[in-house]
Amino acid sequence: MKTSYITQKVQQQIRDLADIARLLWERGWAESNAGNISIDISGMLKPFGSSNKQFPQRRMPKQYPELANAQFLITGAGTRMRDVAMQPTKTVIIIEINEDGSAYSMLQNNAETNRLLPTSELATHLTLYQEHRKQGTAIKAIVHTHPTEIIVLTHFPELLNEQTLNTTFWRIHPEALIANPAGIGLIPYILTGTEALAQATADSMQHHPAVVWEKHGCIAAAETISKAFDLIDVANKAAQIYLCCRNAGIVPIGLTDVQLEELKHTFGSPQQR
Ligand code: 13P
Ligand code: ZN
Repeated sequence: MKTSYITQKVQQQIRDLADIARLLWERGWAESNAGNISIDISGMLKPFGSSNKQFPQRRMPKQYPELANAQFLITGAGTRMRDVAMQPTKTVIIIEINEDGSAYSMLQNNAETNRLLPTSELATHLTLYQEHRKQGTAIKAIVHTHPTEIIVLTHFPELLNEQTLNTTFWRIHPEALIANPAGIGLIPYILTGTEALAQATADSMQHHPAVVWEKHGCIAAAETISKAFDLIDVANKAAQIYLCCRNAGIVPIGLTDVQLEELKHTFGSPQQR
């Protein structure tokens, strides 16, 4: 990443991204190159535009008109979160979308980042930013990771139902509802890195700020990167508590129906009351 045009604001965003990458690694959710992170930094850098010949444009399979001229920090495909934490300038790319949302260029110019491409989940990241912009919701950061206990729960056939999964989380760890009253989305297994995964995630995110990918991981979008991380962290804590109980030989009941109703009434979103 060439640093001369990178503003202080963008440098701070890179540090914030690296801090979250460290947390993902420390949680044990980031084996090898697992996970990817992006931050919308539009408005923090002067756009280079199409007149710029320094950074060639790469056409994308899909057009993202709402993202015209947008700029993002995004982790490189195949990069390890532990390396992102320690060397973000060698593992995080800045991309700029062109005027009609059909191509991106990588604003970088050094030996390490020149070898990188954006994450293989680029389609999902861009589709989520695009759909949120359409709906006027201001998400600024996306975190995808492989939280172990959430993944384990997607191997329990009886929990592979969005409502059952959320009710289980709320009964076992009331904070899961307080932190995310809309609940977590759950989509069936879809091949990694595909447009189909991007679309299914965007559909689910119309109702949920975080979505579980069956037998793969979890993704969250929020107005800050810390908030996106928290959404996954709280859900995974609920999954951990559930599994601890199962490992101890009990099937936990958690809150009673009356307690759950009280919780929903006090903290739940209107749909859940
Ligand atoms: P990338 O290294 O391409 O970001 O892929 C990691 C991953 O978790 C894919 O879902
Ligand atoms: Zn993944």
